[in-house]
Amino acid sequence: MVQAKPIIAILGGTGALGNGLARRWARAGYPIILGSRSEKRAIDSAEELNVEFDSSVRGFDNISAVSGADLIVLAVPYFQRKELLQSIKAGAQGKVVIDATVPLSPPVTSVRFPDSECGGREAQDYLGEDVKVVSALQNVAANHLADLDHKLDCDVLVCGNDREACEIVIELVGALGTRGWHAGGIDNATAAEALTSLLIFINRRYKIDGAGIRITTGTDD
Ligand SMILES: NC(=O)c1ccc[n+]([C@@H]2O[C@H](COP(=O)([O-])OP(=O)(O)OC[C@H]3O[C@@H](n4cnc5c(N)ncnc54)[C@H](OP(=O)(O)O)[C@@H]3O)[C@@H](O)[C@H]2O)c1
Repeated sequence: MVQAKPIIAILGGTGALGNGLARRWARAGYPIILGSRSEKRAIDSAEELNVEFDSSVRGFDNISAVSGADLIVLAVPYFQRKELLQSIKAGAQGKVVIDATVPLSPPVTSVRFPDSECGGREAQDYLGEDVKVVSALQNVAANHLADLDHKLDCDVLVCGNDREACEIVIELVGALGTRGWHAGGIDNATAAEALTSLLIFINRRYKIDGAGIRITTGTDD
């Protein structure tokens, strides 16, 4: 039996990363809900995608987006996400939450970890063990995701305590057009989050518009 594709709610779906993810997953046939603090902004953004892709992307306020979804993506600025986490905690129980946020402090070439050591761990502790938090996508450039003609030249680190949830996320990463690697439990998100600041520095230093990382396997295959 063919498994139905999960409904993905992207919170912060009106933003740069959210838009890039929505475009790629909509193209791959996933049902998408864009979440926003403003239902109108979400509906407007969804309509733009539907005109472009002949898809059925929907737009809701963040809380309604969570209740209608199988899987949730956090794509909002890290230092503004606490209120959002509070408001979605009940609706997220039992679901997979992909945390793509990075605790970057201005000028965003360094990370500022919370007391719980990384944003992924903090989200897991906050939402509770019944929410399967998977940290991923911190090292993919939003502009590259949004450009569907761009062949993604990077890998994605996927960290989480629930192996099955990580496999689901790896499949979604594949649908974006790149490869995901299960890279350990949620505490390992520390490394992925920290890498973002290195990549932003490299972008600026070498005038690159979206440096990424690759996992090599030590063979020519
Ligand atoms: N940009 C990238 O290349 C990239 C790559 C990997 C990871 N990330 C991470 O992904 C997250 C989003 O990045 P972005 O560049 O997409 O950011 P962004 O465009 O600045 O913001 C994304 C969305 O977050 C919502 N938002 C803004 N302030 C908020 C608040 N106080 N509370 C709740 N929602 C708020 C806004 O949506 P509404 O106004 O519609 O609510 C906005 O459209 C960040 O944590 C970033 O570190 C970004």
